[in-house]
Amino acid sequence: MTDFKSMPVNKQFMRILIKPDTWLLNGISLDNAAPHPHVVEGDKYAAIIDTTDLDLELRKYIEECVTQKPLIVVSSHSHGDHTANNYMFEDCPIYMSEVAWEEIKQNRENPNPRMTGWAKGTYTPITVKDGDIIDLGGRQLECIKFCGCHSPSSMVYLDTKYGCLFTGDEFEGGQVLIMGGGPGKSNNCIELYRDNLLDLKRRVDGRATIICPPHNGSAIDILLLDYMIENCERILAGHEGMKDVRSMTFGLNPHGYNIDGFVNDDIRRSEWMGTSIVYSKSRIFYRDVQ
Ligand SMILES: [Fe+2]
Repeated sequence: MTDFKSMPVNKQFMRILIKPDTWLLNGISLDNAAPHPHVVEGDKYAAIIDTTDLDLELRKYIEECVTQKPLIVVSSHSHGDHTANNYMFEDCPIYMSEVAWEEIKQNRENPNPRMTGWAKGTYTPITVKDGDIIDLGGRQLECIKFCGCHSPSSMVYLDTKYGCLFTGDEFEGGQVLIMGGGPGKSNNCIELYRDNLLDLKRRVDGRATIICPPHNGSAIDILLLDYMIENCERILAGHEGMKDVRSMTFGLNPHGYNIDGFVNDDIRRSEWMGTSIVYSKSRIFYRDVQ
């Protein structure tokens, strides 16, 4: 296995300026499946949105090559590929939703063998709820609850200064995986996802110009929010997605597509105008998941 961590720190990531004081960090890896952190600088603090599980010197890279400002961590949801490296920042404030913290605590107390290392560290985060503001000094992140279609722990963050919308895995360019826990654990379905997107659009109210997801490319034009809503409407109207759900970053990597709560034969991929949803055809309407 290639030991990228022993490479010079300034070679382990590439930083891309996507808005003023707003960086996308591309960490070196053999596949493109790992999430990419964003760094958002205010006058007082710099926020790392999703520390990821990349086995690299993330903190050293940020401190040497991106910013000298005091750091805070903001997690989009509990999944370990987004939070595993939070342990590197235990002396910094770490923000996440209450559900994310509950899930990480559970995994810390009763480690899930499939998620080894996903709940590293001993930190206790600051939990945020819908409407809370994380103040970076002259720049704020507004917390917007997203009712858990990919994960019940999701929180979306709107940068009200430069119009960046940090969506975690609830909106991304490769495929949004409608997961959320499976039957009996969650009411995730396409109808709820559509309603979440409509709520998000109302809340954003023209204040965002780009979407900044951690997977499969950042930034994305905010216009894609409308196309994703249309994608949902097509599924709700009876258009069934493809049986072959694979992409370069899903189904071809070791995660496979045996998503918890899904029966493989049920999974479909619906593509529309540059958006893509991977979903279960038995979880379309609210009535399917009651
Ligand atoms: Fe996720």
